[in-house]
Amino acid sequence: MKLLILGSGGREHALGWKLRQSNKIKELYFLPGNAGTSQIGVNVGIDPSNHKKLIDWVKDNKIDLVVVGPDQYLAEGVVDTLQKAKIRAFGPTKVASEIEWSKSFAKKFMVENNIPTARFKEFSNLNKALKYISKQTLPLVVKADGLALGKGVVIAHSFTEARKAIKEMLADKIFGKAGAKVVIEEYLEGREISIHAFSDGKTIKMFPASQDHKQIGEDDTGPNTGGMGTVSPLHWVSPKLMKEIEKKVVIPTIKGLEKSGRKFVGILYPGIMLTKDGPKVIEFNARFGDPETQTYMRLLDTDLQEILLACVQGKLSKLNIRWKRQYASCVVLASGGYPGKYHTGIQISGMDKTIDRSVVVFHAGTKIENGRFLTNGGRVLNITAIDKTLKKSLDRAYKTASLINFQGKQFRKDIGRKALS
Ligand SMILES: Nc1ncnc2c1ncn2[C@@H]1O[C@H](COP(=O)(O)OP(=O)(O)O)[C@@H](O)[C@H]1O
Ligand SMILES: [Mg+2]
Repeated sequence: MKLLILGSGGREHALGWKLRQSNKIKELYFLPGNAGTSQIGVNVGIDPSNHKKLIDWVKDNKIDLVVVGPDQYLAEGVVDTLQKAKIRAFGPTKVASEIEWSKSFAKKFMVENNIPTARFKEFSNLNKALKYISKQTLPLVVKADGLALGKGVVIAHSFTEARKAIKEMLADKIFGKAGAKVVIEEYLEGREISIHAFSDGKTIKMFPASQDHKQIGEDDTGPNTGGMGTVSPLHWVSPKLMKEIEKKVVIPTIKGLEKSGRKFVGILYPGIMLTKDGPKVIEFNARFGDPETQTYMRLLDTDLQEILLACVQGKLSKLNIRWKRQYASCVVLASGGYPGKYHTGIQISGMDKTIDRSVVVFHAGTKIENGRFLTNGGRVLNITAIDKTLKKSLDRAYKTASLINFQGKQFRKDIGRKALS
């Protein structure tokens, strides 16, 4: 089969790496891809947001299945466009992925379907929003409705901060249309985890739980990033708790979406806060997490091609998905200055120094010039490792992280520390 992956991050390299192990895949393409994906497949210089060019290329090259990485492409309706052209696509349609691209829609959906989440109100009127918060208790969470590259959420510890966030979104429109509405919600206290499930629209299959590290600084300090590292599974998330999340969150979501004509095929990825009153949904994502996927692909035992195809064909119930009984970790190496301004085009050294087969380096913001690897983004590389214990897998990832270098390299030294405790 000929397979195409849309996207250019570490997630897409990890998916491609896993799919390469399937003997059913004859050709593998990435749009647009990165230096890492060019080593395992063919990068094509077409912008996936240009649907006309995309469809022409996919038809000319007789692609059998398209896998969509980033949320933005889903929100642009790429799956709908592919389906109309009779091309199989793994990922939800535009209306099914609204659960991610509109936080206001997701909150109302959760209320209607009795899915546990933080109490909230939504506003598009500045004065009404300001009046509302004056009667609330701190901290308060202010969220832009739409996709905002992970920058649309402010945890306000003072009313000044909350007012500033609301004004910036509703009056100054710093997120444009994505901030035309805001969701203001209660602050949830607890441990935060990432949940993923495959869905064929009816049947779901849960992944092991994982934990991301959103902030740039150690001990969760500083501004949010796209994610600085992940670990999976989590020894303190019991099978019983996973069942509870499946029953109270994942199944009712897939059922509720189907009932409202938004059949969901793809990855449902809720962010969950484990509060003293049980698990509550922070948000829904409608795609593979990045960098969660980098650890998940190291743990998945079953052929990914088979799973993706079963989802698209509505045959997931027939499949038994196996995961390695090991621990995986991922440490992100980022450019100096990230998540603020940073330079690109800096040479990367030590790429041949991965210590052994337990370590795999996935590329994110990289490119190749004259046979040399150069930085080409904020998050540059993902160092992943697996082992029998989380501690050992982290040690392996960190050893490699110290051997790969580029000017300005920064990474968190405490990935997995919370998960170990
Ligand atoms: N109600 C809440 N209580 C506590 N923390 C929250 C709450 N909502 C969001 N957060 C924190 O903010 C982060 C970003 O929020 P999220 O809704 O996931 O938005 P996005 O990923 O679109 O930026 C979460 O990962 C979580 O750490
Ligand atoms: Mg999130």
